Amino acid sequence: MSEKTIRPVSWGENGTVRILDQTRLPLETVYKECAQVGDVWEAIKSLRVRGAPAIGVAAAFGIALVANRSNAQSTDALLGELDRAADYLASSRPTAVNLFWALDRMRARAAELAQKPIEEMKRGLTEEAQAILDEDDQLCRAIGEHGAALIQSGEAVLTHCNAGGLATSGYGTALAVMFTAHSQGKRLEVYANETRPLLQGSRLTTWELMRANIPVTLICDSMAAHLMQSGKVQRVVTGADRIAANGDAANKIGTYGLAVLAKAHDIPFHVAAPTTTIDLSTPTGGDIPIEERAAEEVTEGFGRRTAPPGVQVYSPAFDVTPAELIASIITEKGEHKAPYGPALKEAVQS
Ligand code: MRU
Repeated sequence: MSEKTIRPVSWGENGTVRILDQTRLPLETVYKECAQVGDVWEAIKSLRVRGAPAIGVAAAFGIALVANRSNAQSTDALLGELDRAADYLASSRPTAVNLFWALDRMRARAAELAQKPIEEMKRGLTEEAQAILDEDDQLCRAIGEHGAALIQSGEAVLTHCNAGGLATSGYGTALAVMFTAHSQGKRLEVYANETRPLLQGSRLTTWELMRANIPVTLICDSMAAHLMQSGKVQRVVTGADRIAANGDAANKIGTYGLAVLAKAHDIPFHVAAPTTTIDLSTPTGGDIPIEERAAEEVTEGFGRRTAPPGVQVYSPAFDVTPAELIASIITEKGEHKAPYGPALKEAVQS
């Protein structure tokens, strides 16, 4: 692991879940050692760990934590504890499907291990969480390869929110495309939307790209239309929190607007995500639950009140980009184009 490798979530030396506290970035690099499942829940809820794959990894380690700390005397009792913990962690955030995918995988592994001695079950669940992390790293690197093939040297790419190493096991999805293109010697320039209200683009994406020596320019979300109109952007690449079976993709609020703008300016709009973000059981984007966040994140984000006390606020954290606005979806399996129904089914099941 090079000193530049980001590990947003890992298994701590003392049997804790170690989380890089993203609310403190870019000014401070502080880790939170989660010793209780409630700490993991809180870290996900408050976006100390965020981004669809990273939330899944954190939840998987949360289950390993419960197993390792348990005093249960029978595997049946332990299975019950793990099931309650999985339900609890599932209540932290509703939109990113990787959370539920990872919890289901941990539940399935627990059921498989139920015939083994308790200590073996604990060890097996810790290994499973680590496997989810390691596999995500492989998926992200493959996404980077497939996505980088689309990037022409000299292009400027616009991205939204943070779909980088911080949002995954360490390499990213949308940013993996840029990291890989850069490592192949392609000249590229990135515009990062600041991403109101929680500024993941400003705080996290610019930080990651600057560490990688990729030229990045920060813009306010409202500047994207002007940038496209003045020919400064040749491509948009974002991540996703959940991709429905028909290709509609939920991602950070503001993504849909970017896709509409990209269409209006004839700029390709791509979604980069692992197949663990595709949810074939959700037929369309209209079926994806959209998280709503607290009013204070809009009225007094980062410690300064910017709206009159008592003002009514509506703060959906995600929006859905309809499949027809997406030029292609890049997964670890390759680049997928419309019609997305069969293409995504094939990608998930192959
Ligand atoms: O609210 P956040 O910061 O968790 O939202 C994250 C995003 O919208 C990312 O773009 C998405 O999870 C993809 S992460 C590879």
